[in-house]
Amino acid sequence: MRVVVTGGAGFVGAHLVAALLGRPEVTEVRVVDDFSTGRKTHLAELEVNLFEGSVLDPALLDEALDGAQAVVHLAARPPRRALRGPTGGAAAVRPDRPADVPADHLVNATGTLQVLEAARRAGHLPVVAASAVTDAALGPDAERTPYAVGALAAEGYLTAYQHCYGLRVLTLRLRDVFGPFQPAGPRGPAVVPAFVAAALAGEPLVVHGDGRQRRDFTYVGTVAQVLCAAVLRRLTVPGPVDLACGTRVSVLELAAELGRALGRPLPLVHAEPQAERTRPLPDPGPLRALLPGLRPVPLRVGLERTLAWSRAR
Ligand SMILES: NC(=O)c1ccc[n+]([C@@H]2O[C@H](COP(=O)([O-])OP(=O)(O)OC[C@H]3O[C@@H](n4cnc5c(N)ncnc54)[C@H](O)[C@@H]3O)[C@@H](O)[C@H]2O)c1
Repeated sequence: MRVVVTGGAGFVGAHLVAALLGRPEVTEVRVVDDFSTGRKTHLAELEVNLFEGSVLDPALLDEALDGAQAVVHLAARPPRRALRGPTGGAAAVRPDRPADVPADHLVNATGTLQVLEAARRAGHLPVVAASAVTDAALGPDAERTPYAVGALAAEGYLTAYQHCYGLRVLTLRLRDVFGPFQPAGPRGPAVVPAFVAAALAGEPLVVHGDGRQRRDFTYVGTVAQVLCAAVLRRLTVPGPVDLACGTRVSVLELAAELGRALGRPLPLVHAEPQAERTRPLPDPGPLRALLPGLRPVPLRVGLERTLAWSRAR
């Protein structure tokens, strides 16, 4: 089986490529990536065929999908803090600041449409796609940033191609993924890399609000396992499915677990709460029904692997 992975040089993509190459059914992995956030070093040890360029280039997509049997679409621009204010809320969006909305929309919405069209042209190849729809855009206090609207448009196209053209599509909503290759700093404001970086630097962990907000953290190896199974089994479901395993720990419990993994309690400082404190938790039920044999990597094991990678850097 030849599999095309868009965004294959990114954080999630590199783990998926490695997982696919470990499967005997997979004879070739092709990566389409423009390296805007992905890194060639993520694929250094892996035997992939690289199609360097953008998913906005139909000719490049046709070349990459020619003779392939499946597509995993992970190419996307990440949300940038610049679109949000210090609390992360929509109310704090600065109208006086230029936002890179057209570029976000082009890659995330139009790029998804281009991949779907290319999959159709290539003979109705099945598509597994990671959705960038964040829970913040879905909850009762839904904040419709231009970024979230672009992500919702991408999901809409995925569903439309399923209904209108009979394309086999599986849309997976990822959130709170953590593990090796995840960037810390402005490109990666996620809590796990921030905690790991602070802990290894001997600094206190910054907890926003009281830290009781619960999250469904998923180790990136589990995400790769799910994506890999979805491709190989050609899974399809009408509508998006949360890629969540029901971890549901609070940020305080996460800090305590990280401390246990390091063998010492970690000092905390509290900062102002973030808007996502109120966000709803994902529903792990549909994924469990789809992949009953899935054995997620436990939080502690995932943290130990992330620490080992961070230390080795
Ligand atoms: N990591 C998470 O917690 C998380 C959460 C929600 C959704 N997702 C989704 O999962 C997918 C992968 O995310 P990630 O964390 O690996 O992000 P990432 O930024 O590490 O990877 C995205 C990859 O896409 C590539 N890319 C960007 N624009 C491109 C273009 N125009 N053409 C070709 N390649 C392009 C980048 O170079 C990068 O390699 C994305 O769709 C993202 O929205 C991730």
